[in-house]
Amino acid sequence: MTTLNFSLSRALGRSLKPGDEIVITELDHEANRGPWLSLREHGVVVREVRMTAAGHLDKEDFERQVSPRTRIVAMGLASNALGTVTPLTEARRVCDNVNALLVVDAVHYAAHFPLDVNTLGADFLLCSAYKFYGPHIGILYARGGLLDTLDTDHLRTQKSHAPYRVETGTLNHAAIAGVTAAVEYIAQWGTGDSRRERLLSAMTNIHDYEVELARYYYESLQDIKGIRAWGPAFDGVPRAPTVSLSIDGHRPEEIAAALGDLGLQVWHGHFYALKVLEVLDLVDAGGLLRVGISMYNTRDELDRLLRALEKIARN
Ligand SMILES: Cc1ncc(COP(=O)(O)O)c(C=O)c1O
Repeated sequence: MTTLNFSLSRALGRSLKPGDEIVITELDHEANRGPWLSLREHGVVVREVRMTAAGHLDKEDFERQVSPRTRIVAMGLASNALGTVTPLTEARRVCDNVNALLVVDAVHYAAHFPLDVNTLGADFLLCSAYKFYGPHIGILYARGGLLDTLDTDHLRTQKSHAPYRVETGTLNHAAIAGVTAAVEYIAQWGTGDSRRERLLSAMTNIHDYEVELARYYYESLQDIKGIRAWGPAFDGVPRAPTVSLSIDGHRPEEIAAALGDLGLQVWHGHFYALKVLEVLDLVDAGGLLRVGISMYNTRDELDRLLRALEKIARN
């Protein structure tokens, strides 16, 4: 995804003039910040929408950052660090007012929610198949006709229309076949006559299962003294089942190692969402400890994890 987003930013950058503006957010993974920030060397102005301490995008700041000079708004749909889901309808409306393109990073979202590009209103949407049980290959969706207008990096021997226009060299056929297999794998967990129906139903089932577990875990954490769970509460608004925490007096890497010894695999650090940790002033503390709940996790596993965390917090 990161590689595709750099290609996209280079291609879109060729249509921009010095003084044109791009809006990115503090909540985003570096993969949807770095490619746009790199265009500053051509005189493009990059503005950043603030995130609040609770891990939401600041809506008023978003309105302030977008101006008639805005050509592109690049934002994530779900935060891989805090689980926050960004309301895109609002972003689409703001983009329409100033005629800006909306680029959406759906890498974290696609693994946990049913996703329909037609209702989202994204001009470009990126995701990554390894997040939804597939191989390591990035995916770029573009609204019909848009790819043909992009000034992409491509060889003169390459066909000049989409999708070839954004491809370089021989395709990664094995991985592409793996994406189909991943899609079929997910679809088997749903019901319906068509694959699309089965996929939507499967992703809804997966989402409901994961969020139920995540809510249980997040709420149980509130009862453990010394633990702080970050990111929005599970209070009915869309929220990814990804919960990050910190424990007073313990560095995340030590907690992750201790849990690893018990066979509990969690991740620690900044997860490439470095700006989020800078805003929350958690970089020197070693970032956060993140638990990403997936469809194969169980409540028993979470109980084991909660008991282990409680013990660490007590010492
Ligand atoms: C929200 C988000 N965006 C982008 C990326 C980058 O994806 P890739 O590893 O395919 O470059 C990730 C990967 O962790 C992510 O979580």
